[in-house]
Amino acid sequence: MKKHIVLLPGDGIGQEIIGSARAVLEEIAEKFGHTFTFETHAIGGTAVDEHGTPLPEETVTACKQADAVLLGAVGGPKWDDLPSHLRPEKGLLGIRKELGLFANLRPVKGFKKLLGSSPLKEELVEDSDLLIVRELTGGLYFGTPSERQENGQSVVDTLYYERHEIERIVDKAFQSARLRRNHLTSVDKANVLESSKLWREVVEEKKTDYPDVTVEHMLVDAAAMKLIQNPAQFDVIVTENMFGDILSDEASVLTGSLGMLPSASLRSDGVGLYEPVHGSAPDIAGQNIANPLAMILSTALMLRHSFGMDEEASCIEKAVEEVVDLGYHTKDLKITNGIETNTTNMTHKVVEYM
Ligand code: NAI
Ligand code: MG
Repeated sequence: MKKHIVLLPGDGIGQEIIGSARAVLEEIAEKFGHTFTFETHAIGGTAVDEHGTPLPEETVTACKQADAVLLGAVGGPKWDDLPSHLRPEKGLLGIRKELGLFANLRPVKGFKKLLGSSPLKEELVEDSDLLIVRELTGGLYFGTPSERQENGQSVVDTLYYERHEIERIVDKAFQSARLRRNHLTSVDKANVLESSKLWREVVEEKKTDYPDVTVEHMLVDAAAMKLIQNPAQFDVIVTENMFGDILSDEASVLTGSLGMLPSASLRSDGVGLYEPVHGSAPDIAGQNIANPLAMILSTALMLRHSFGMDEEASCIEKAVEEVVDLGYHTKDLKITNGIETNTTNMTHKVVEYM
């Protein structure tokens, strides 16, 4: 296959870990006979410095023409005092919006070697391997009106969904479940919210299209409890924007480390933006000590979700697991009797084990 990928390094450690993404992709291309071409563009603070805006027009154009986009991270103290339209984060929100990325996928997988870094009991975390599919462009965060009323004495936020918005995220979740263990948990608050009743209705309708996937409905308060009580029971969770925001932060505690968590933001035609969950880590930037694994795992997500390259994605994920199992780690992780190494060597190790 031939694919064109836009790289947006962004700021801080984003500039360092984007190279790790490229290294694993070059290995995949060679191993599986694909052709990947790359184009690098500015976003965030770096783009402010170079172009006077956090999201240059040429970056948007390039992303729209690409098969997929990989992003490092944006932000840093250097740009903290800029007016809000020039803030690096505006670049990130802007590109998600420009590309219409309605589905946010956050896989959460506990690595055996890292169980000690989670505050939860090891036997609870060890079998957890779940994917949260969060609706990203609707719901309470976007509904109008959202304002103070009556001289500030009352307030309204609006949880608004259109059927087609629910259908497309639910489809995405079913498709994701098919690539995993064929189990879908739809999380809502259908005992109280009208929006959740429509949500549940859509899931019930859609499940006839995916007879190979088992479906269960769960109320969000119960889901919050079960995520900690028995995380291994979950495969794919699909939920609306705010519930997904909260549950995905809760679930991230299972892995114990920010430097391990990848994410994907997608739309229906497969075009997507992939980035680690962490930020630009200005405190360690420029030292070649950043953990590249969240970026590398984001690259695997790109192969699976944008290019349909499941085997290639698994190749990367298995290599990461093996390297971590062997005890290799960057400074942010604590592994008893482990081997501490830097960003470059960690990347080399993953490529070697691929
Ligand atoms: P952060 O995620 O950048 O860093 C939090 C802590 O985790 C720091 O101690 C950092 O050194 C460490 N860390 C993060 N990623 C790491 C990695 N791969 N390897 C080793 N250690 C790692 O969050 P923080 O400090 O709150 O924000 C820093 C900047 O990043 C801010 O400007 C913020 O706005 C921005 N940010 C950007 C995001 C994005 O681009 N998607 C997401 C979150 C924050
Ligand atoms: Mg959040």
